[in-house]
Amino acid sequence: MPIKINTKQLKLLGKTLVYRKEGSSYWVYFPQKVGFHKFNKSGFGILLYLAKGMPDPELNKKLKESRKTQIFFDYLLKNDLIDRGKLERLNLVEMDKILIRGAKANEAKLLADLYKDEDQTEYWRVKKEAEKDFCEVKIGRRVAFFAEIDGKTVGAVQLVLDCNHKDHADGKNLTEIHHVKVHNNYLRQKIGTQLVGTVERLAKEKGFKKTTLGVDEDNLVAQKFWEKLGYKLLKVELGRTEEVKLFTLYKNL
Ligand SMILES: CC(C)(COP(=O)(O)OP(=O)(O)OC[C@H]1O[C@@H](n2cnc3c(N)ncnc32)[C@H](O)[C@@H]1OP(=O)(O)O)[C@@H](O)C(=O)NCCC(=O)NCCS
Repeated sequence: MPIKINTKQLKLLGKTLVYRKEGSSYWVYFPQKVGFHKFNKSGFGILLYLAKGMPDPELNKKLKESRKTQIFFDYLLKNDLIDRGKLERLNLVEMDKILIRGAKANEAKLLADLYKDEDQTEYWRVKKEAEKDFCEVKIGRRVAFFAEIDGKTVGAVQLVLDCNHKDHADGKNLTEIHHVKVHNNYLRQKIGTQLVGTVERLAKEKGFKKTTLGVDEDNLVAQKFWEKLGYKLLKVELGRTEEVKLFTLYKNL
């Protein structure tokens, strides 16, 4: 089922900020070609993010308390405190186009297809693995999601609810995020962030307390990604080869 996203608008000095609510997070759209940016709780977060420097602590406190986004925005503009560089660096994400949907048990091929343009050995390895993973989807031990843009699959993720390694997923408190993948042509557009957000929300709704996942020692991009999403190191384990260790990360939900 597609995730329902509500859109709200806020006028700030003649500019329209379009907010989209997704679970407990919001995305804000800046019309001046910067796209959507995720922030938490309120419009305040994005303004703090964009501020060059903090307003004096007293004013900051008052503004936060009153949650008067408009006043704060005016203040930043008047004092030239909006960091234009930061604004420019925000990724252009056309959120309207991204759809996250639950996967069906017979859709393992769509996951493998994300690797079609890559190394063929990897493609065949993933194809086999995906078939096994989706058998687990069939019996309800895990759920999978796909990200789509204009009907094309551009990303995938799985949430393992229960498995034999009870220190990874125990069907009750602990759940494991597995095989997040974004197609190479669609990287850095917050698709991975949205996929993970989707499974984290689901895990929370189901009453899980913690998510875990494994990342290879040599996968530096993924480590940066998980760090950005608030994951911390739980333990270091033996990996797929002797040289490359597996880092188990976790996040409390
Ligand atoms: C890891 C992966 C899923 C990230 O997907 P993505 O949609 O590109 O990531 P997002 O756009 O949501 O990135 C969120 C944040 O992660 C970090 N990040 C993502 N890719 C990065 C990169 N190449 N270099 C540095 N930081 C990166 C950044 O902090 C980024 O935020 P920013 O763009 O505002 O700086 C994607 O790179 C991928 O599919 N990799 C191959 C499969 C894989 O390794 N999966 C993880 C297995 S543990």
